[in-house]
Order: sequence, then structure tokens, then C-alpha cells
Amino acid sequence: MERTLVLIKPDGVERNLIGEIIKRFEENGLKVANLRMVIPSREFVQAHYAVHKDKPFFNVLVDYLAEKRVVAIVLEGEDAVSRVRKIVGATDPSKAEKGTIRGDLGNDSKEKADAERRSIYNLVHASGTREEAEEEIKLWFEESEILE
Ligand code: CDP
Ligand code: MG
Repeated sequence: MERTLVLIKPDGVERNLIGEIIKRFEENGLKVANLRMVIPSREFVQAHYAVHKDKPFFNVLVDYLAEKRVVAIVLEGEDAVSRVRKIVGATDPSKAEKGTIRGDLGNDSKEKADAERRSIYNLVHASGTREEAEEEIKLWFEESEILE
């Protein structure tokens, strides 16, 4: 059984899409193993997105999530990491396939975000690999909160 981390980013929380987003994972057969709402500090978001620390969009990405309401979710299932990435869709919502969370519910584009010098608002984060998933789950949840 594989686990992955999903974050409902501040735009998803603000737009009242928490239920709709979780429903899509549950309908696909993924199990919610844990979840909680968090208001992460800048330092915490920097740690979560450490792989992007040298990217030009790093600072605006931290601005997007830090000190705002985010829902952190552990999802469990066979091939959870890749299944969740498929359900989430491509990074730029204007290019994400229909049927995906970002494609159906997203209302932003890379073009608009770049013009406004901010991060692309795309509703969710999902771990990219099994290794990243394990690290991210450890960052967002206590060991004792994750049942084997
Ligand atoms: O979230 P995903 O794995 O699809 O994309 P990423 O390449 O790991 O980038 C992380 C996040 O940074 C994205 O989800 C966007 O919110 C943001 N980003 C951005 O604002 N501008 C870019 N050119 C690339 C990513
Ligand atoms: Mg990523």
C-alpha cells in the first residue's frame, strides 16, 4: 500500500472546494488516512518546497501558501503517488486536461500569474515521487498520527 501527501492550497480553501477535491480522490478509491487544516509559517513552506529553492518562482510560491489556511491530507492506496498526480492534472490549470482537478476547477494560467508576478494558483499540491511523499508526510504529520 502506498501513501502520498496532498495539500489543498489557499485558493482551494477560499473557494470552498475542500469537499469537491476530497470527493474526487475518494471516488477514485483512495483512502483518506489523515487530514488537518494548518496555517504554515514561511519557514515551514520553504522546507516543504525545498526542492524548488533555486527556482525563480520560489519566493512567490512561498507567498502563495505561507500564513494562510491549507488542508494537509495523507491519501493511501495502490500506486497512490502516480494515481493522485493523474487526478490532479498539469501544473498550469489552463493546460490541464478536462476531468482533472486543475483542468475542471482551476481558474488561473501561467501567463496570468507571470504578468501579475505571483505564483500559479492551481488548487492542490501532490507529492511527485514515493520518496518525496514519505518525506512530505513526515514533515506535515507526527509519526503517531499515521496508522500502519
Ligand atoms: O505542483 P506541481 O508538481 O505540478 O508543480 P511544480 O513544478 O512542482 O511547482 C510547484 C508549484 O510552484 C506549482 O504547483 C505552482 O503553484 C508553482 N509554480 C509557479 O508558480 N510558477 C512556475 N513557473 C512553476 C510552478
Ligand atoms: Mg511538484
